[in-house]
Amino acid sequence: MSTNQKGTALITGASSGIGAVYADRLARRGHDLILVARNRERLEALATRLREDTGRSVGVIVADLGARADLARIEHELRTNAAISVLVNNAGIAMSGDLVDSDPDRLESMIQLNVLAPSRLALAVIPGFIARGRGTLVNISSVLALAPERFNGGYSGTKAYLLNLSLRLQQEVADKGVRVQVVLPGATRTAIWEKAGTDIASFPPNIVMDVDDMVDAALAGLDHGETVTIPALPDVAEWEAYEAARQRLIPNLSRSVPAARYRAATAR
Ligand SMILES: NC(=O)c1ccc[n+]([C@@H]2O[C@H](COP(=O)([O-])OP(=O)(O)OC[C@H]3O[C@@H](n4cnc5c(N)ncnc54)[C@H](OP(=O)(O)O)[C@@H]3O)[C@@H](O)[C@H]2O)c1
Repeated sequence: MSTNQKGTALITGASSGIGAVYADRLARRGHDLILVARNRERLEALATRLREDTGRSVGVIVADLGARADLARIEHELRTNAAISVLVNNAGIAMSGDLVDSDPDRLESMIQLNVLAPSRLALAVIPGFIARGRGTLVNISSVLALAPERFNGGYSGTKAYLLNLSLRLQQEVADKGVRVQVVLPGATRTAIWEKAGTDIASFPPNIVMDVDDMVDAALAGLDHGETVTIPALPDVAEWEAYEAARQRLIPNLSRSVPAARYRAATAR
């Protein structure tokens, strides 16, 4: 149980890449930590370093979030540990190549990890946040949520799901002292690409961000009070214009009659 004022941040997928940098930054910001992933050795090594460097309390829970029993253990922790003030839903895997050639079992595992796990973890933590009148949920999506043409459609679909979930959740909890931020990183230099069978060296260097820069930008976005943070996007007005166009569509997306362009064909 944390006794510090900032509370405890639970970070999934903290054993490498983006999650490990979140762990470092949140410890330096004064949070105690609970690090979650499958690789105990890497988690323990990071925990030891962060305890030494920051003096924070750092716990480790080894869990495979694709396995229902392990996921339930993390949900239980989120429901019962009132010190938890931040959840970073970061663990994820990618799959490369065309969807038509994809292994359906890998697709299922990816949906379990990228969609089911963060959804259940969000539902586990939010009631406590609301009851305590504070808490921050960070969901790591991807710019591919906005660019399905650029990568495997199953992967980008999982990230679009997280964007939708976050937008609605933020609306539901905004007046309850709870924050929801969804981060849309572009290509970021981590091991995820190699694990998905894609050589990151094949990407133009000008589209790949270093992981430290990505996480620092995401945390700056959090500090600015953003719900959606796109670390690489140079001009935020472009996102705002996209959002404004989407909002303009909303009142016309559901109506009692078909649009005029469809009526001619069905007229008797
Ligand atoms: N890198 C990019 O270009 C990029 C861009 C946009 C979004 N993202 C997103 O960022 C997040 C982090 O990815 P990353 O780039 O940092 O990749 P990464 O270095 O491969 O890290 C993925 C993390 O997830 C954990 N993980 C994987 N499967 C797991 C499972 N079944 N149960 C629990 N933990 C599991 C891994 O730890 P263990 O193997 O120890 O379990 C690792 O800590 C992902 O959601 C990814 O989709 C990445």
